[in-house]
Amino acid sequence: MGEIVKMDIQNSNEMKFNGLLKDKSFINGDWVSADDKSTFEVINPFDNSLITNVASLGGQETRRAIDCATEAFKTWSKTTAEERSNLLKKLYQLQMDYLDDLAQILTLEQGKPLKESRGEIKYGASFIEWFAEEARRTYGDTIPSHGVDKRIITIKQPVGVVAAITPWNFPNAMITRKIAPALAAGCTIIVKPAKQTPLSALALAALVEKAGFPKGVFNVITANTAREIGDEFTSNSLVRKISFTGSTKVGKTLMRQCADTVKKVSMELGGNAPFIVFEDANIDNAVSGAIASKFRNAGQTCVCTNRIFVHDKIYETFVDKFTKAVRKLKLGSGLDEKTEIGPLINKDAVEFIDGLVKKSVSEGAELILGGQQIDNMENFYPPTILSNVNSDMEIFKNEIFGSIAPIIKFNDEAEVIRMANDTPFGLASYFYTNDYAKIWRVSEGLEYGMVGVNTGMISTTVAPFGGVKESGNGREGSKYGMDDYLEIKYLCIGGI
Ligand code: SIN
Repeated sequence: MGEIVKMDIQNSNEMKFNGLLKDKSFINGDWVSADDKSTFEVINPFDNSLITNVASLGGQETRRAIDCATEAFKTWSKTTAEERSNLLKKLYQLQMDYLDDLAQILTLEQGKPLKESRGEIKYGASFIEWFAEEARRTYGDTIPSHGVDKRIITIKQPVGVVAAITPWNFPNAMITRKIAPALAAGCTIIVKPAKQTPLSALALAALVEKAGFPKGVFNVITANTAREIGDEFTSNSLVRKISFTGSTKVGKTLMRQCADTVKKVSMELGGNAPFIVFEDANIDNAVSGAIASKFRNAGQTCVCTNRIFVHDKIYETFVDKFTKAVRKLKLGSGLDEKTEIGPLINKDAVEFIDGLVKKSVSEGAELILGGQQIDNMENFYPPTILSNVNSDMEIFKNEIFGSIAPIIKFNDEAEVIRMANDTPFGLASYFYTNDYAKIWRVSEGLEYGMVGVNTGMISTTVAPFGGVKESGNGREGSKYGMDDYLEIKYLCIGGI
């Protein structure tokens, strides 16, 4: 089990929220309560203490927000790219100015270590900065025409009102990755953050207000249950696009619901990332890469390593070095600077992970490290290593979303590519080798949207983030990220 750091949250750090801690939804530039005044609790996953109560809105308020965003779209879509870019640059600067406050709010409601929260706020800000720049580069084309009296050009226009449903694992960056390209393109947007982490979304709304964005352009609806809001988002014909990050199960439901009004959808869904260590790999680098990609956010990311495949010839050495390194990871309150692994999001997550470990052991896996819930730390699960895992086991097929590292032995390249692809998911994948020909062959053979070669950290604003198969569609970040929020229109000009 990793070392445990305990601390008293109340006395941990001086907090200067500067008006960033909000408890109401943000619609049309106003901070609003639910029509029936209902609220829900936001809980600190470190110790299950109550942080605050936040407004819990429903379908009626969502309809109003959609109407406001529709009205705001009429003028926002007509602004120049430069105006939108300048406002986004202001928002970027504000997010960087309040980095420490935002990181603290994030750690309080999500649990991840402050170091990671600061990283997330910078990562989130980088999307705002990037799309502030991209706003001015949404070029069209001129196309050689099919008739002597005709000319053809394309222009790009914003899709319209966008609804975004965002997860609790990255309460800031998964929002900025959607709102920045949407606003840059000239769309207006309504965000429904996860009920576990509404405070980071509301803090962002406070910065949007401070930056001076027009009313109705950016809205946040907080709610205890997602169903009513999701039903309204997907059925309302004024909403032209849904962008969702979350589970494949919910993504499929949203896609079905969007069919009736034929909305554009972007889906960033579940993963089951393979991490392959070939016999010629630098083992120490592979160990560090596996730790970075497995235990980031306590294993709660869609791109976290889910299955570690190690070549027979180096299996024992890798398992030994990996176990020694994992044993040193420090668990504790995210607010303690020494903490490397915080709590899981809640008790249900811990029970799910514990169940997976027990099932794996009953199916024949060997427990090398961890595997026991921790007394008096209800939402924590220690970093756990399972060896002798095989493709028949439940853990091989499931997205773990927690701190278990299952290790599988392999003998040959074709076999490991087949096993890596033996899943409906196709988001991130990783492998380590020093053989350049293998780098090409394996990269091309993996059925994944993203491949990390000799690295466990692939997330960046400048590259297209997204998956294939049941991991979703669309790309976020990079020069491709604007496309999801733009329509291409073709103009055929005759009589020339
Ligand atoms: C995710 O878990 O959905 C996103 C992780 C990332 O952007 O690195």
